[in-house]
Amino acid sequence: MSAPQSVLPVRAMLVLGTRPEAIKLAPVARSMADSADFDPLVVTTGQHREMLHQMLGLLGVTSRVALDVMRSRQQLSDLTARLVAELGEVMREKRPDLVVVQGDTTTALAGALAAFYEKVPVAHVEAGLRTGVIDNPFPEELNRSLIGRIARWHFAPTERAARHLTDEGVPKEQVFVTGNTVIDNLLWVLDRGTGSSAFRTRARKILVTLHRRENQGERMRGMGRALRRLAERGDVEIVLPLHKSPAVREVLLPELDGHAGIALVEPLDYLDFAATLADSDLVLTDSGGIQEEAPSLGKPALVLRTTTERPEAVEAGAARLIGTDPEAIVRDAGELLDDPVAYRRMSGAGNPFGDGRAAERVLAQLAEDFAAEVPLDAVV
Ligand code: UD1
Ligand code: UDP
Repeated sequence: MSAPQSVLPVRAMLVLGTRPEAIKLAPVARSMADSADFDPLVVTTGQHREMLHQMLGLLGVTSRVALDVMRSRQQLSDLTARLVAELGEVMREKRPDLVVVQGDTTTALAGALAAFYEKVPVAHVEAGLRTGVIDNPFPEELNRSLIGRIARWHFAPTERAARHLTDEGVPKEQVFVTGNTVIDNLLWVLDRGTGSSAFRTRARKILVTLHRRENQGERMRGMGRALRRLAERGDVEIVLPLHKSPAVREVLLPELDGHAGIALVEPLDYLDFAATLADSDLVLTDSGGIQEEAPSLGKPALVLRTTTERPEAVEAGAARLIGTDPEAIVRDAGELLDDPVAYRRMSGAGNPFGDGRAAERVLAQLAEDFAAEVPLDAVV
């Protein structure tokens, strides 16, 4: 399949629907808005509602089309169907030259699939992450693999991610190592320095986030119990911005609300989140993005999952994949709190996810290809 040759400026449709997509596509949207080579059109799907909208303005992103697909306790199949239908309609109406998706959410998969059906070439930002386990994380590992089959441009954050793609048969001319745009955004936000840190009532602060589908239910309850035990040490404040998901709240609120040393707060906007991360001593998380941000700020991250698609941080020594067992959480967090040598080893390990110029590289490659004479293949 071939897309018609475009002339600059490229009419690029950026499709985003969740908090991490807003954060990681913001640098691309901002750079495109400032570039004569692009005419960006941001489409927000509303897969997330409050958690998306609290980000856009302060990250300098203006949504030109805002869908409203979110339902409480949405099911993956319903959400996917709504997204493909509504995004297909927007693409038919707007006729973009290019669709840009990020990561591995339902929005990203539906955006890529709708673009394929409408014969619009797709650029995938944060391409090539893999655990190798198709249902872990669920359903993100499948989503990103499927987007990898559809995309024409694969912007991989690291050499390892690029290798996953070429190993799967993606031509190497279509894979570009850029770094992760999350670092671009973190540096942009810290430069502004306007956020404020949530809480510090005790000597040390642990920032915790939990939301993954595969951790919900009993596992998350066990992790909540582990957090209570950590707070009972008396010297740490645990700050936990609660995901809006009812499946997360119904477990963590009864387990942790009102407990001394544990501050349950609403999701922090990105400025406050970055300030809170910068002011923390340790991070416990099952989030993808936070595994990338914590090493940039020298914060040891204990990853509360059984697999990670970001082994670079683990190999660098900045993160540890500790699983979800409450005993391991109490033991490993305790070790870092009590052993300054182990702490310094992790906090000084550095950030393997890029230099803050990922969006610049994405734009340069796209502009070069759209300006060239060769026809663009819409599919691999
Ligand atoms: C999705 C992504 C996941 C990402 C996470 C970021 C997929 C398949 N997964 O998780 O990769 O890490 O978002 O947070 O897309 N909700 C609200 N208000 C909001 C946001 C969500 O009430 O602002 C509710 C939704 O109605 C839903 C639940 O929270 O019931 C979970 O949201 P959903 O987008 O389905 O999240 P996940 O698929 O778990
Ligand atoms: N984040 C935020 N406020 C919060 C919690 C997280 O701004 O209260 C940011 C965080 O900095 C990271 C992103 O949200 O960049 C991660 O999103 P999430 O954990 O929802 O998704 P994931 O990264 O796991 O896909």
